[in-house]
Amino acid sequence: WAVQCLSVVVVGASGDLAKKKTYPSLLSLYAGGLLPPSLVVYGYARSSMTDADLRERIRPHLEGKADDIVIDSFLDRCHYQSGAGYGDHAGWGELNAKLDGFEASAEEEVGNRLFYFAVPPNVFAETGEAISATSMSKTGFSRMIVEKPFGRDTDSCRAILASLGKHFDESDLFRIDHYLGKEMVQNLMVMRFGNIWMENMWNRNCVQCITLTFKEPFGTEGRGGYFDQYGIIRDIIQNHLLQVMCLLTMECPNKLDGPEAGEKIRDEKVRVLESMRPVALDDVFLGQYEGYTDDPTITNKDSNCPTFAAVSCTIDNPRWSGVPIIFKAGKALNERKAEMRVQFRDAPAASVLFGGADVPRNELVIKLQPSESIYLKSNIKTPGFGSLPIQSELEVKYDTRYFDASGTSGSSAMCNPDAYSRLILDVLRGRSASFVRSDELIRAWEIFTPVLDQIERENVRPVKYRAGTRGPDGMDEWINGKSGYVRNDDYRARRFES
Ligand code: BG6
Repeated sequence: WAVQCLSVVVVGASGDLAKKKTYPSLLSLYAGGLLPPSLVVYGYARSSMTDADLRERIRPHLEGKADDIVIDSFLDRCHYQSGAGYGDHAGWGELNAKLDGFEASAEEEVGNRLFYFAVPPNVFAETGEAISATSMSKTGFSRMIVEKPFGRDTDSCRAILASLGKHFDESDLFRIDHYLGKEMVQNLMVMRFGNIWMENMWNRNCVQCITLTFKEPFGTEGRGGYFDQYGIIRDIIQNHLLQVMCLLTMECPNKLDGPEAGEKIRDEKVRVLESMRPVALDDVFLGQYEGYTDDPTITNKDSNCPTFAAVSCTIDNPRWSGVPIIFKAGKALNERKAEMRVQFRDAPAASVLFGGADVPRNELVIKLQPSESIYLKSNIKTPGFGSLPIQSELEVKYDTRYFDASGTSGSSAMCNPDAYSRLILDVLRGRSASFVRSDELIRAWEIFTPVLDQIERENVRPVKYRAGTRGPDGMDEWINGKSGYVRNDDYRARRFES
């Protein structure tokens, strides 16, 4: 593939997302030789700044991510354009003239443009209108990257989609859910459809329950203004965990690569979402950590906003009917962790065969973070003179198997890029499979909007939990009651962490 001449425009260049994610990901693509030599990166925002001011602001977020010489050369390509507002045609017109000039000087047939919306959704509409009126490429593609929150419910999501849909084709809109760029999420399709044993076990006959977990060891930390309006279900479950669930449970698309794969894969994801009923209040357990409202950015000191939630749902299709799917997400918990856990049913007659011994269930765990690993909890003979089963694991740990501590490997074909770099590269390559299509998004909201409305209407109070713990009391019992999950405490006690 080759993108001949590329202008990247970071809209909202002075904001947090741009500094912490967008520029560092562009740098790592640049450092890896994955951006074309004819490259310019313009920041657009309202603050008045020079190019030098912008570079000074973003440099601290780039340091250590590449050699200094590479950072300097990347920063030389970074410029800044201010406008009176995000919809200011005059500001965008000036930027467009500069992009035209750059493209003319590059002397290439095609000048492509990538617009990264690192701005809140309330300015998506005016930004999109101004870009489409003034700044589209005349010779190449103009692609837009946009990021959540895509509304708070089905109606507000539809409004956001319509505001951008008026100006751009769906094929030029790339809605980021950065969980789709994580290595272990990208790995799902190869694992599921490249292994014969997976497909045969991957259904209601063998699977007891599926749990998708997100845990963070810190609270809102200054993001309370945003978080208090959204809560953990909208922040994590309705998007990140639901997206991961779709890839874990969908039917096999008949293309996994090539130009048609994007639509085929997303068609299958939508089919899964269409097989789910809206979540009921009875299927939700809410928690809030003590001290949540002490965050000065939270103005409602009596806020009921959940910082922890467990949600139970099912997929009503022939493969999954009756299998409980549990989403569990929380802030200010005891650790950072995200994983998918599939518990299988009891092996037939195992306890009879082994003289009444306890034969634990198999479990497949795919760990997204903090370090990537996959393990299958399996029963083997207790080593030594004994012959009873003991639960052990068949395991791949990415950091020892494929990468060293810096995330690089001996083979140049293997690396562990961050989710944003991977996704930006997909946009340049025109690969849409890892971006959320508008119909997926609407359906995802339809599943959660009724219960979110009811929680607000009925002022449902979350159960308090202490920050730094596993979550609210009663949560494990509630989850096990819904899912039929059986925990093997003996396994935990015997595991030697290496
Ligand atoms: C974001 C949420 O989408 O994902 C944050 O808004 C959360 O609240 C973050 O902290 C988690 O991302 P990651 O990649 O660190 O797991």
